[in-house]
Amino acid sequence: MERKVVFSGVQPSGGLTIGNYIGAIRNWVSLQDEYDCYYSIVDLHAITVPQVPKDLRKNTLEVLALYLACGLDPEKCTIFIQSHVSTHAELAWVLNTMSYMGQLSRMTQYKDKSQKLGESVNAGLFTYPVLMAADILLYQADYVPVGQDQKQHLELARDLTDRFNNRYSPTFKVPEPLIKKEEGKIMSLQDPNKKMSKSDENDNGFILILEKPDDIRRKIKRAVTDSIGEVRFSEEQPAIKNLMTIYSAFSGCSFEDIEKRYEGQGYKQFKEDLAEVVIEGLAPIQERFKEIMNNKEYLENVYKQGAEKAQYVSNKTLRKVYKKIGFVVK
Ligand code: TRP
Repeated sequence: MERKVVFSGVQPSGGLTIGNYIGAIRNWVSLQDEYDCYYSIVDLHAITVPQVPKDLRKNTLEVLALYLACGLDPEKCTIFIQSHVSTHAELAWVLNTMSYMGQLSRMTQYKDKSQKLGESVNAGLFTYPVLMAADILLYQADYVPVGQDQKQHLELARDLTDRFNNRYSPTFKVPEPLIKKEEGKIMSLQDPNKKMSKSDENDNGFILILEKPDDIRRKIKRAVTDSIGEVRFSEEQPAIKNLMTIYSAFSGCSFEDIEKRYEGQGYKQFKEDLAEVVIEGLAPIQERFKEIMNNKEYLENVYKQGAEKAQYVSNKTLRKVYKKIGFVVK
């Protein structure tokens, strides 16, 4: 029996946070045994905002090494750098010609970004979700694990699928989003109403997977709490809820266990222990990361092998598309 296909990607725009780890990559690791998974480092998406070339190159390889350090296994899944596989930009072009300006201009992520940038907003930001649709459709993905913030983009991918399939004939599989549960989402340490993000201008808001122990201790010490003074998992205490989510993710303890352990103790001990739990949880990943980064040949082998497989699989879809739209097949 054919295994179902999973596709997802992360932009190489700076280091990954523990939010990316807990919310996304850890989950990707558990999917790789059961599904035929494609995980990309989406550098074509990253250049929709200005990048410093040498940083982009460094970040791309770092994200790849982090994927591997977190447990993605190139023997089980296909890991590749998006710009290595030419079909992504090619299918994106075709899908651009089938996308409505109206629908693209209603994408909330685009609206937010264009509001900030005004006249200087580039066309790549506008068509960003079309490239994302191409990523997904090229592999005939059944499932796409993403955060809530990408749900609208997934809807667009589904609309494009239907439009293409109806205009020509069934060609693409309709992808289903696998949206993370809200409870698992990691919020900023400085503002529990905002998602933890590496692009936060306040770097106390996030913890990177590669963060040093002392910085982890400092950031957790400074994390906002509340005046209630009890370690309890409740909607009225969003900051504590967030810290408990992190604690639970790294220790495996349930929220009840954590509540019991810190009953009547305030936040000081809880925060100190949380820092150690995070440091311990990240240590083996950081260790593997160092080893992998020191083995450039291995890294290169992984991305070359991944690109070859991705190119081969995605090319089958692209050839079908080109034929159906009336291009002369060579
Ligand atoms: N836009 C996604 C994000 O920023 C990254 C992404 C690009 C992606 N292409 C994708 C995610 C395809 C899932 C599937 O999170």
